Amino acid sequence: MSNWEVYLAPYKQAVEELKVKMKGLREQYTMSSKHTPIEFVTGRVKPIVSIIEKVNRKQITMDQLEEEITDISGIRLVCQFVTDIDTIVEMIHDRTDFTVIEERDYIKEKKDSGYRSYHMVIQYPVHTIEGTKYVFVEIQIRTLAMNFWATIEHSLNYKYSGEIPEDIQRRLQRAAEAAFNLDEEMSKIQDEVREAQQIITRKQFENRSNS
Ligand code: GTP
Ligand code: MG
Repeated sequence: MSNWEVYLAPYKQAVEELKVKMKGLREQYTMSSKHTPIEFVTGRVKPIVSIIEKVNRKQITMDQLEEEITDISGIRLVCQFVTDIDTIVEMIHDRTDFTVIEERDYIKEKKDSGYRSYHMVIQYPVHTIEGTKYVFVEIQIRTLAMNFWATIEHSLNYKYSGEIPEDIQRRLQRAAEAAFNLDEEMSKIQDEVREAQQIITRKQFENRSNS
């Protein structure tokens, strides 16, 4: 690859646009003083070294990169409750500015590691000076508890170069179970929490209007 910066430009554009769009949704929920299903949004373009590493791992050529690697652009939507994930998934399906082409539900079926999240791959149009370029974007949707677990596990995987010692793996599986139970417990008091959050938002709004 001669010029990565040029090659990755549309992928970067897609991430930036989607971050603006998703953060916009969050703002709209906040203003309407409804519970927002989006707690925060992050996005990234896969680092070049990771792209090269994945090309080698998948034994594909650089020409196949565009078709075979669907997570060069990545967006993460983190929410409070498991039911928020359903809301977000539905919202994404209803949109007309991109197309969903793949879905994986690692919440109904968690990975052996203990990983849980809802994954979608979309085809997103980027308007370039040479016309429309469609890029794949991976969207990961997860709760704060799932995100906490995945972040810790990711760091450990990095530390041990993917070979986490067995005893730590077992601990991680137990931690994943604890995260699952936390999500379950929060679901049970969800209505209480939402009501409290709405009262707080309303108070903040009133204070702002009065000052
Ligand atoms: P990749 O080749 O890694 O993309 O795997 P895949 O094509 O089978 O896709 P998959 O849906 O399994 O995983 C895609 C992304 O989900 C990864 O790049 C991670 O960000 C995340 N992920 C999947 N499994 C795990 C896991 O066990 N732990 C953590 N921390 N993240 C995971
Ligand atoms: Mg993948």
